[in-house]
Amino acid sequence: MNFQEQMNGYKQQVEAYLEQLPMSGAPEQLKEAMRYSLLSNGKRLRGILTLSSCEMAGGSAEEALPFAAALEMIHAYSLIHDDLPAMDNDTLRRGKPTNHVVYGEALAILAGDGLLTHAFEVMAQSAHPRAFDALREIVKAAGIGGMLAGQTLDVTMQGTEPNMDLVRDIHQGKTAALLTAPVTAGLILAGASPMQTESGRRYGYHLGMAFQIVDDLLDLEGDPELMGKTLGKDEEEGKLTWPACVGVEWARQDAEDHIRHAKSALTVFGTRAAFLQSLADFSLHRAQ
Ligand code: IPE
Ligand code: IPE
Ligand code: MG
Ligand code: MG
Ligand code: MG
Repeated sequence: MNFQEQMNGYKQQVEAYLEQLPMSGAPEQLKEAMRYSLLSNGKRLRGILTLSSCEMAGGSAEEALPFAAALEMIHAYSLIHDDLPAMDNDTLRRGKPTNHVVYGEALAILAGDGLLTHAFEVMAQSAHPRAFDALREIVKAAGIGGMLAGQTLDVTMQGTEPNMDLVRDIHQGKTAALLTAPVTAGLILAGASPMQTESGRRYGYHLGMAFQIVDDLLDLEGDPELMGKTLGKDEEEGKLTWPACVGVEWARQDAEDHIRHAKSALTVFGTRAAFLQSLADFSLHRAQ
């Protein structure tokens, strides 16, 4: 199987699992708003990272599925809230109108809350002996010292002078945290050693930093059709981005450096790391 076939295989596994989630107890409108964003056309990177990291350390993708799904739910919630008028005020996501445009702000906020809390419900139902350790990685990454810290800096420092230290903190929080947790959680579920898990953490950090630098670059020079969101807004809104600090050329160079570091963090896994190595290259060269 080549890389693209493996990607598609993991993606299908994640999507089939998300599709069949019963979301029991949710009023019909809430369920519809949650499913609208969760099942729209995302790359599923966080889910794919969870399954592939678990397999890399000898675990089965199957046992990691609830955690892969939870990470995609937390990610979808973060996007719904990120797009709200009070935050980035975006009307297009994954090629479709944003959640609040379709369902109104109140339901969009609730759909985000619903996806976040349901993610924990799904993980809590896992009988895996290391479920709690995996959950701890995910809650920390999504929480006040992780994604929420990055998002807080992103919105509160908007319009201020570009500052490299600050942008590093923003990118680490808002993006790298939620790209690291799938790797460490997947490894923990597989029973990886602490040393292997720390290698995975370094991989996730560098992958995540590169991923957000590329997101900033694509906001400047990407194809709106492929990206499925309105581009060019970072500059307009005075967002603190990597290219705003160092320019486009250096930003690309820094993304390449992070990908190199990400790949070298995986040497401990030998040839079993082939898929995640290719995923790092894919993240650098992506157009969507
Ligand atoms: C978008 O993430 C938000 C960022 C962290 C840049 P993705 O680019 O992974 O979004 P989807 O899930 O593929 O839509
Ligand atoms: C969003 O970063 C990160 C999270 C949602 C946590 P951006 O605001 O740059 O993402 P896009 O460009 O809207 O996808
Ligand atoms: Mg944002
Ligand atoms: Mg945004
Ligand atoms: Mg962006």
